[in-house]
Amino acid sequence: MGTVEATKTEESAAGSSARRDALSVTDQRTGRVYELPIVNGTVRAMDLRQIKTGPEDFGLMSYDPAFLNTAACTSRITYIDGDQGILRYRGYPIDVLAEKCTYLEVAYLLLYGELPNKAQYAQWVHDITYHTMIHESLKKVMDAFNYDAHPMGMLISTVAAMSTFYPEGHNVHDASVRAKQAHRLIAKMPTVAAFAYKHSMGMPYVYPSNELDYSENFLTMLFKTPAENYKPNPALVRALDVLFILHADHEQNCGTNAMRGIGSAHTDPYSAVAGAAAALYGPLHGGANEEVLRMLLEIGSIARVPAFIEEVKQGKGEKRLMGFGHRVYKNFDPRAKIIKRMATEVFEVTGRNPLLDIALELERIALQDDYFVKRKLYPNVDFYSGLIYEALGIPTAAFTVLFAIPRTSGWLAQWEELLEDPEEKIARPRQVYLGPGERVFVPMERR
Ligand code: ACO
Repeated sequence: MGTVEATKTEESAAGSSARRDALSVTDQRTGRVYELPIVNGTVRAMDLRQIKTGPEDFGLMSYDPAFLNTAACTSRITYIDGDQGILRYRGYPIDVLAEKCTYLEVAYLLLYGELPNKAQYAQWVHDITYHTMIHESLKKVMDAFNYDAHPMGMLISTVAAMSTFYPEGHNVHDASVRAKQAHRLIAKMPTVAAFAYKHSMGMPYVYPSNELDYSENFLTMLFKTPAENYKPNPALVRALDVLFILHADHEQNCGTNAMRGIGSAHTDPYSAVAGAAAALYGPLHGGANEEVLRMLLEIGSIARVPAFIEEVKQGKGEKRLMGFGHRVYKNFDPRAKIIKRMATEVFEVTGRNPLLDIALELERIALQDDYFVKRKLYPNVDFYSGLIYEALGIPTAAFTVLFAIPRTSGWLAQWEELLEDPEEKIARPRQVYLGPGERVFVPMERR
């Protein structure tokens, strides 16, 4: 994309000519005016480089720690309007997908851009179902973890280890190889997650069953034992499938940015998914669902809610109301609305979780408190999801694993898009160096 440079004239750039998609910038250091094209509501950071004080000058850079206002890619996968509380996958509103689709249908949509027809869906379900087994040696890798290893630590390491079992995955430029690894990853994540849980319980692993659908199979691998048969309640299977749909993608968040960053080095998808999952593990990201549960337990009763809110406000950012706030949603998180509704349906089957009343009271008070209103802090996807996971019998430490399972389809869709993007290059941010200039070395005995 070219830029036009003009010497400053008497006339101000803003008032001079007809409207066009460009930004006029005056460099007050030199008096020169630059015209930067505006495309899709953005200016190119590289177009700033021409703005120099002289030939020795490197040129202007943009400074944007934490990417608050920087688009790092174009994408056609997920659309979010944070002010309106809109979330769409490939153009379809999230509430419609949550009501009408299965998770695997949505995973197909994310990866291929279209909802599958009957034949495509049958093939897709077959491809995923027939990749759910994991290599027996990978099982031994999992056996090596300590009995109290965190399930996310196990998941991240085991997925990374998978790259050594499928070395063909390194051939990231072959679309059919990529498709095969996508089948494997989407299929094996629930198996690895369930095995991690069984390991932590000291119980034998339960192998996947091809007769069961994706979510039912996962619940069965979690809760079946050799001593007892297990048939999950269909309402709970559906609730889990909907949670998977809601968590499947969320455009350029921390984990997806990690996936794209690692993928941009043409690393294999197993290592890249392990890196993305590591980002998701953090308490400010997918780890928040676990923290919400811990917070509700810490509060303990409805009577203690006002005091807790006061502590958060006095903590001035040190202590946060977990499950509240979002970098993008500044009105409401549409996923949280669906999950809140679903919590009621799940509790009809499992019995009411007393922590729900504490959560509802927290939400009620926070939504009318000036501190939270002014900062536009609303419940996010993690606020109610933990309560449902708990109702399903899933231990708190495994909550983020349940986020990583469906997000794998989103990560892979974003990775696929990255590798097909003609503008794709290795991700390499610049820095603003503020350290010392060249220093004289002092030998150790004189320091
Ligand atoms: N509780 C109390 N105060 C909060 C919270 C919160 N949950 N979130 C933000 N704030 C305050 C900050 O202290 C800050 O206040 P200040 O302006 O007085 O300094 C202001 O709101 C803005 O906060 P930032 O940290 O600048 O907002 P940012 O967009 O960077 O952070 C984030 C978003 C990380 C989600 C944040 O809201 C948070 O930490 N929430 C709790 C953790 C959580 O629920 N994470 C899950 C997010 S959803 C997901 O990743 C799947």
